[in-house]
Order: sequence, then structure tokens, then C-alpha cells
Amino acid sequence: PHYLSRDIQVELAQIAQSIATPGKGILAADEHAAIIESRFSPMDIQNNEENRRYYRQMLFRTKECSQYLSGIILCHETFYHKTDDDDIPFPRLLNEMGIMPGITVDRGLIILGGTDNETTTQGLGGLEERCREYKKNGAQFAKWRALIKISPTCPSQLAINENASKLARYASICQQCALVPIVEPEVSLEGDHDLEQCQRVTEQVLATVYKALSDHHVYLEGTLLKPNIVTPGINCAKKYTIEQIAEATVIAFRRTVPTAVPGIMFLSGGHNEENSTAYLNAINRVQLYKPWVLSFSYGRALQTSVLRAWKGNKNNSEQARKEFMRLTRQNGLASLGQYEI
Ligand code: 13P
Repeated sequence: PHYLSRDIQVELAQIAQSIATPGKGILAADEHAAIIESRFSPMDIQNNEENRRYYRQMLFRTKECSQYLSGIILCHETFYHKTDDDDIPFPRLLNEMGIMPGITVDRGLIILGGTDNETTTQGLGGLEERCREYKKNGAQFAKWRALIKISPTCPSQLAINENASKLARYASICQQCALVPIVEPEVSLEGDHDLEQCQRVTEQVLATVYKALSDHHVYLEGTLLKPNIVTPGINCAKKYTIEQIAEATVIAFRRTVPTAVPGIMFLSGGHNEENSTAYLNAINRVQLYKPWVLSFSYGRALQTSVLRAWKGNKNNSEQARKEFMRLTRQNGLASLGQYEI
């Protein structure tokens, strides 16, 4: 028997399955103040707390967005924000809309000494207590991001092992608090590596992550994976078709991700809106057995056009929401392989 009680297992599996509903995906709206600065400033939007709150309220209150969104990830600040007219905390608002609220619980990257500037992720300290508090306030799932970089000397075995083991500890703690852990081992898009190299590294990282999750007795039915799409590095000279990228991605997951995992929710990781949708669509059209829901957990690929339309001006809210619906809809369709350009 598993060490988690039957009730907790059922609860975790139900949350994970509901997030991995076919045709729906996740909005990653968990950029904390310093990160949102890099999204706001190119559009000349002032980065103050009320603008951050208003922006999220504008997104969340987009009518019908729950047709294509099963979950939204928040950062700590947004998690405790409320609607301005009726004082509803955002997690409650989302739960009432049928969208699972999630919370980012990691505390960012820190350099791994003695490596070529590789990183590990901080945030295990006090994590159980924080998770219990978030759960009490309506969170259903959590996110922890590890970053792996590719270069002639990276990733090192140390970086892979260290990040896999942190992800496993995080996942174990979340599950004990009835939060579904989204396991995010992001292989970075930075670099001039080719598609084959990204596939090799992604497979090696995922194999190590699932070994660590097994060692830590993580209940896989109550988890979700948030990986990179397998693509060439941003500075790779060689060009590949969308179909080649989709096939490399599906092959890498078939080799490493257990069938017990209900959903694989990709990050956009710097790919533009158009490519993020095209890749997801092509991935769902690959003619190989794919035992998981393959959908999106996009940040930038669901928000860039929205911010451009909004510009920090309330008068543009309707136009911004139109852009948000366009992007969520096209990715919802792509998650079923039904997006036609
Ligand atoms: P992007 O889709 O912008 O990469 O953001 C997803 C995310 O949450 C990364 O941690």
C-alpha cells in the first residue's frame, strides 16, 4: 500500500485529471514583480502593485476563458489579491469559475558552485508549512521550476541529479499537503545546440527525474509534468520542420514519462505565440501512441499580444481580452490537434 492515505490519493488524482482535461490547458500567470517588469516595460506599462493586480483581474474575468483553461498558476502576491468590486480573493474566484488555482512555491534559481554557471532551485525551507497555508486558502496544485542548460560542457551530472532530487522532495511535500505538484524540469532554449542534442538531454533529464520521483515514493497519478518542447537551441544554424520537432518531442516522452502521469503541460519557454501553438498542434498529430494528455502551461505565449493590446490602459481592456481569448482558444484547439492556421 502507498504511504499516502486512500483519500489523499483520490483527491490528488482527481485534481491532476481535471487539470489534464482534453482541450484545456494552464495559464502561467505567476510572474513575480521582478519578472513581470520584463514583460511590462517593453510595452511601457508601469510596474506597480495595482497594475499587477488589475492586469490579472482583467485576464481572470475574461468571460468563457474556462472553456480552454483548466488551471491558472499564481505567484504569492497575486494569490492574496482580490477583485476590486466585490473583494473576492483570486483563488476563490478561479475555483468558482471551474479553474484550478495553482501557486508557485519555489524561490528561484541559485548558481551551483564549481559548475559552468549551472543552477539549482531554492525553496524547500518551510515548504510544508507554506503548502498547508496555500491549500487552506484554495490552491489545488503547485509549481517548482528547475532549469537545465545545454552547452559543450552542460548539463553536468551534478546539475541533473541535484535538480531531479529537489523536484522529487518538492513533489513529495506537496502531495502530503494534498497539492498536485507540477514537476518542471526546463531544458533551456538558449544555445546553438541542434534538435538531436536537445532530445538527448531532455531524455536524460526526464529519466533521472522519474527515477528520483520513484525513490521518493511520489504518487505519479497525482502529478503533472511541465517540460520544454524538444527543439533546436535558439541560435542553432540548422533548420527543422515543425513535424520533426513534434516527433522528437513525442519520442523523448515515450521513452521516459510513465503512463501513470495524466498530463504533460508544455511551457513556451521563449518560443513565440505562433510557434508555441503550431508545435503543440503538431505534437498532438504525431502518429504514435501517446498515453497522456498533451497540452499547454504557457506564460509568454498566452500573454505577449494581450500586454501589447492593453498597454496599461483600462480603455483597452476589451481589446486585450479579445487577444487573450484568441490565444487560449487556439491553444485549446492545438491541444486536440485541431488548430487550423
Ligand atoms: P513560459 O511559457 O513563458 O515559458 O512560462 C511558463 C512558466 O511558467 C515557466 O516557468
